[in-house]
Amino acid sequence: MLLPWQRSPAIGRYHRQPMDERAIGVFDSGFGGLTVARAMIDLLPAEDIVYLGDTGRYPYGPRDQAEVARFAHQITAKLVKEHDVKMVVVACNTAAAAALDQLREDFDVPVVGVIEPGLRSAVRATVSGRIGVIGTVGTIASGAYQRVAAELGGSALAADRPLELTCAACPGFVEFVERGETGSDQVFVLAERLLEPIRRACVDTLLLGCTHYPFLARTISDVVGREVFLVSSADETAFEVRRILEETGAGRPKPAAGSQRRWISSGDTATFAALGRSLFGPEIDRVEAWDPDG
Ligand code: DGL
Repeated sequence: MLLPWQRSPAIGRYHRQPMDERAIGVFDSGFGGLTVARAMIDLLPAEDIVYLGDTGRYPYGPRDQAEVARFAHQITAKLVKEHDVKMVVVACNTAAAAALDQLREDFDVPVVGVIEPGLRSAVRATVSGRIGVIGTVGTIASGAYQRVAAELGGSALAADRPLELTCAACPGFVEFVERGETGSDQVFVLAERLLEPIRRACVDTLLLGCTHYPFLARTISDVVGREVFLVSSADETAFEVRRILEETGAGRPKPAAGSQRRWISSGDTATFAALGRSLFGPEIDRVEAWDPDG
């Protein structure tokens, strides 16, 4: 029989460790996961966080799934073995679509993704049941959102209306964010072209199925119309992390000395610090270098 803290697939084979002082690991191909880290810091200020942005190898979206899965495995292994984290948040839809189930099998800490929490939020928000989902080519091509929608469609959350998903890949959006170009005319023109299928589908809710996209929320909203409710996976993912900490008893008591945040990048650390500060805030003070081939 499963013990209570083993019921969630995210918790897996985790061995209960009450009041676990260790940090939570968060990773993404670059800056996108900062949207999730922000929500986690706001909701769980006592927790230490180690954030790894794989900016040296971004974007993940156009790469094949096996390669992204290999990167995700390598980063998770680093966070677990070198940084001794108590949980890993895969703050990247592309990596979650490619590797989440395998990571949960391979590591003994809870592994949280962003796809299921994000879709749950969107299902809660929609009135018509017509939901748009935008993401990278890798995420949309994986069919991960349709799979989770099929599971949620049968749940009480969606019982009162059928769910209809319109998915669109938005190649190029991530690159604009990684250049810090979140409000230019060029990104607007690209958004007008890529979001046309979403506009035509008359959705009432649009799920930002890539953690970079909240940085483009104003442009996206201008293009699809203010009446369309934008949903990011960040808040719901933070709630999922809190739920697991509560279920496992592994939440960290408020530390007298404040909590710590570490920032790691596989790309240029000075660029990560400068752009990270402008997108996220002054907490990104010192960035550590990581060489994935080292
Ligand atoms: N933030 C990643 C995601 O959620 C972006 C992937 C990429 O680097 O293309 O999918």
